[in-house]
Formats: sequence, structure tokens, C-alpha cells
Amino acid sequence: MRLDNKTVVITGAASGIGQATAERCAEEGARVIVTDIDTEGGQAVAEAIEEDGGEAEFHELDVTDSDRFQAVVDEVADAYGLDVMVNNAGTGHPGGSLEEIDEEMRDFVIDINIKGVWNGCDAALPHMKEQGSGAIVNVGSLASILGLPKQAAYSTSKAAVLNMTRTVAAEAGPYGVRANAVCPGFTETQMLEGYLAQQEDPEAAREEMAADYPLKRLGKPDEIADAILFLASDESSFVSGHGLVVDGGFSTC
Ligand SMILES: NC(=O)c1ccc[n+]([C@@H]2O[C@H](COP(=O)([O-])OP(=O)(O)OC[C@H]3O[C@@H](n4cnc5c(N)ncnc54)[C@H](O)[C@@H]3O)[C@@H](O)[C@H]2O)c1
Repeated sequence: MRLDNKTVVITGAASGIGQATAERCAEEGARVIVTDIDTEGGQAVAEAIEEDGGEAEFHELDVTDSDRFQAVVDEVADAYGLDVMVNNAGTGHPGGSLEEIDEEMRDFVIDINIKGVWNGCDAALPHMKEQGSGAIVNVGSLASILGLPKQAAYSTSKAAVLNMTRTVAAEAGPYGVRANAVCPGFTETQMLEGYLAQQEDPEAAREEMAADYPLKRLGKPDEIADAILFLASDESSFVSGHGLVVDGGFSTC
């Protein structure tokens, strides 16, 4: 299997892309460390993986808490080693022009989306550098490469994730550590549902969105998880500093 004997830590793994990634990694033989602020959801994901014959454990983790992040990663690395760190936890925000997004909302998004990924890299890198191997996969967005209107805080944060990933790749490469990002287009998760719920006619908005995609549909969490799995596994052993866009062709036309 593609992740046999590997230990994978995933943030925001109680739902959506993180949950799908946890399940795919477990299917490929990894010991999966499911982390999230949602204790109930995270525990349920870990339990379901175990019931299916996989190996998983849940650790409550708010990615904005750097001390707690380091403690969880240290505990995992000491017990099992640390092969893959997936910095997936993220948040969106209600749509609004840059002037309409207040300081509190801006800082909330930046804290989770930028500092949370920074904290994850910061916690994982010493272990990976010391062992001379490891793969970091950060979850960016189409907003890493496009400035989405009414999404200034989100776009700013996700662009930072991509460039942080490149810097980590440059710094950690000499130690045998790779860092990459996955940049999904709109994907059917509760984050998307939250966005659609703000629209006047959510179903019409969903159809309008899908119509803009060459494949005429939105992404599924499993499809993003498969891209993360590729970057986490040895199949991508010469890929580092890359932002893999998984958007059904949206950004190409
Ligand atoms: N769904 C999309 O259309 C889409 C598109 C591009 C990128 N993304 C990115 O994918 C990632 C996963 O999003 P999703 O769509 O699966 O959303 P989701 O809402 O289904 O999952 C996000 C998870 O992150 C957790 N979380 C939120 N704040 C946290 C924190 N401070 N610490 C730890 N966990 C926290 C939530 O509890 C939740 O389980 C995010 O980084 C998001 O920006 C999503």
C-alpha cells in the first residue's frame, strides 16, 4: 500500500476534505492522527477508520494554538515518528469587499489559515529534518492563485499558504523533506454549504458555480484527498514546492 508504516497527522480532519484525506490515507496503510477543534466529529472519524480495520487516533487541536500544536506533534513523533503533516484546517468568511471585511474577521481568517499552517510546519519540521525525511502537504485553494472578489481575507491567506509552502520546500529540501500545496476549486463540503447558504437562492448559486467549471460540476472531497495522497506518498518523491491545482479546469479558461 502507498502509505504502509507511515504516520500521517491531519488537521481539520473531522469533516470535508480532511475527513476524506484521513480515510484515504488509512486505506493506504497509514496510521492516521485525526485532529480538529470538533472533538465529537473527530472522534467519530477516527472510530470509523478503526471499525473499517484501519489505524487512527483522535487528538483535539486548535491549529491557532502553537504550544498545543507542538505538544501533539511531539507526542505523535515520539511514539511513532512523523512521516506526513497535512495542514488542512481552514476557514472561509462571509463575502464582502475588502473595505467591508472588518478587522476581527480579517484576523480570524489569517489566524487559522496562515498562522495555523505556519504552526503545523513549525511543529513538524524539526522532527522531519532530524529523521531526514517527511512530506508536508498544505491545503491552499484556487484563491492561492486567483484574487477572488469579495474574498480578500481568504484570498490573502491562501496565497500566503502557497508561498509559505515554497519557502518551506526550499529550506527543508536539503534535509530530505518535501513540502507541497493542493489548491482545490469549489468542493462539496460543509464550508461550501456555508457559503451557499448566504446566497439568495443556494441551489441556483450551486448550479451557476458548476456551470463555470469545464467539467460542469464541483469537486468531491475524495478527489482532493487523492491529490493530497499523491503528494504525501513516495509517488511524488521528486515533487516539492509545487501548488497542485485540483479544480476541474476552472482556472485554465
Ligand atoms: N470546500 C471548498 O470549496 C474548498 C475549496 C478550496 C480550499 N478549501 C480548503 O480546504 C480545507 C478544508 O476545508 P473543507 O472544505 O473540508 O471544510 P470543512 O468545513 O468541511 O472542514 C474544515 C474543518 O476544519 C476544522 N477547523 C476549523 N477551524 C479550526 C481550527 N482553528 N483548528 C483546527 N480545526 C479547525 C473544522 O472543525 C472542520 O472540521 C480548508 O483549508 C479550506 O480552505 C476548501
